[in-house]
Amino acid sequence: MKIVDSVNEMMKISQTYTGKKVGFVPTMGFLHEGHLSLVKQACKDNEIVVVSIFVNPTQFGPNEDLDSYPQDLQKDSSLLKAEGVDYLFVPKAVDMYLKGFETSIHISHLTDHLCGYYRPAHFDGVVLIVNKLFNVVKPKKAYFGRKDAQQFRILRRMVKDLNMGVEVVEMPIVREKDGLAMSSRNVYLSAEERKNALALHEALTYALNQIKSGRIDAHKIRLEAMNIMRKHPLIRIQYFEVVDEKTLQPVSTVDSKVIIATAAFVGKARLIDNEITEP
Ligand code: PAF
Repeated sequence: MKIVDSVNEMMKISQTYTGKKVGFVPTMGFLHEGHLSLVKQACKDNEIVVVSIFVNPTQFGPNEDLDSYPQDLQKDSSLLKAEGVDYLFVPKAVDMYLKGFETSIHISHLTDHLCGYYRPAHFDGVVLIVNKLFNVVKPKKAYFGRKDAQQFRILRRMVKDLNMGVEVVEMPIVREKDGLAMSSRNVYLSAEERKNALALHEALTYALNQIKSGRIDAHKIRLEAMNIMRKHPLIRIQYFEVVDEKTLQPVSTVDSKVIIATAAFVGKARLIDNEITEP
């Protein structure tokens, strides 16, 4: 596995692929089994696999965890090498965002609800960096986890709207044995917080089962699920919503495919999780 830290060098490499199937997994590092499931799929589907690690400053708000975001490049690179990744791209922020950088991209509507409402500039930062990474790495396929269901739907819109010619693949959420969705931010949790954090999965499972058993009153189900989370004193709910799977608009009745999504702070960790189901 070759480690590439210069944007120019990565662009030179991506000009040499000549017709090969190139898979790409963009990450912010501190890799866990969730990331590795994307990497494994990319290695299965493609002839060349590129993984990037870049903690992208433009997707963090002013009071968020940019400066403390966990990092362990040595461990990450040995995990990726063992998976058979060809290139690990680790650009520096000054190289990705050159002096005088002025471009922005905004995707409307899909960014209005869920995380987009509470993190107003977040998805502008995500689409900008993914766009730039696609231009540098030039993949045919790119892999993202369903834990960030809103992010995936926004990126899918972007590649379609901008004719980017990259196939985006959504991969299932990978969970710990007890149900907690894997996240690099789980490392922030104390033992007590870790126990409380299970309530996200518990509340989502409750809502999922209610819909599976035939209930369609999204509003009531949402309130009941939030009450489950409120029993856990260390949780501060940011949102718990039932939204249309395509438009991400909140629904009052479940009559088509929906995403049940939640975000909550547990200590300093902001955790997200979701389930997708149909009536
Ligand atoms: O999902 C992530 O880890 C990030 O949002 C991404 C897609 C790597 C962009 O920085």
